[in-house]
Amino acid sequence: MSSVAHYNSAAQLAPKGCAALRSSHRAAKHAYISHAADLAANGIAHCHVLDFACGRGGDLPKCQGCASYVGVDSAELAVVELHRRAQEMGMPVHTHIGDACDVPTMLCNLALCNFALHYFCDTREHCTRLVRKVAACLQCNGVFCGTYERIGCGRKYGVARHVVIGDCVDAVEWHVPYHHFFEMALQEGLALVWHAPLAFYDSRAEQGIWVFMMQQADRRPPCGTTQTGSATLHMAHPPQACCPAPDLT
Ligand SMILES: C[S@@+](CC[C@H](N)C(=O)[O-])C[C@H]1O[C@@H](n2cnc3c(N)ncnc32)[C@H](O)[C@@H]1O
Repeated sequence: MSSVAHYNSAAQLAPKGCAALRSSHRAAKHAYISHAADLAANGIAHCHVLDFACGRGGDLPKCQGCASYVGVDSAELAVVELHRRAQEMGMPVHTHIGDACDVPTMLCNLALCNFALHYFCDTREHCTRLVRKVAACLQCNGVFCGTYERIGCGRKYGVARHVVIGDCVDAVEWHVPYHHFFEMALQEGLALVWHAPLAFYDSRAEQGIWVFMMQQADRRPPCGTTQTGSATLHMAHPPQACCPAPDLT
């Protein structure tokens, strides 16, 4: 089943299985989104969130109280459900329907791509377009945070597999060529500043899933300041060394 067909049908019939796994992933996401928000802007209240492949709005509760929220997803019915949830929560949101790479370029300081990076790894071009879009949207010091599953050699695009996880997932996914993904992101100005197994945030989480955080390392002036004369302005919080060091073997 295509991801659009699967996530449109899942939007109408919320999954009931895999309760323990979903609960663990919810808890882990809550913790690492909060971690990323602290890194990006000292907390979610100062974050302008752009959620790439937002789905049914699973991350809305983790972003509640943010400065603004925009989600983009290719499954129209999932976005309808996101609006229903946002209304229930009293949270203002904007959304776009379509490929996340084609969302209009807009500034954010927290970009998310949770449990969806594999859908952009059918070709190198698709993944590159996503990374370029994220890099174009992120303000300096802004954080791009997401997950990926570490399988395969980590270098090849277009390696497909049909994933079925109870009634939660039934779609074709692609291996994430994480070696290339990190290298290419760095070329686009996104430096890896944090990399940890999902289980670091919740010990019940699925093994093999990793969380990454990248910071906009482009030497653009810090947000809210202007460049004067020929003086070079430095980033308020330069990217730190990777911690823990990414072992990409
Ligand atoms: C597992 S869900 C994750 C949803 C959300 N990020 C979360 O963590 O709750 C994957 C989402 O990726 C979306 N998706 C897949 N390919 C996409 C693309 N090219 N552009 C935008 N969304 C896409 C699917 O429609 C689905 O909603």
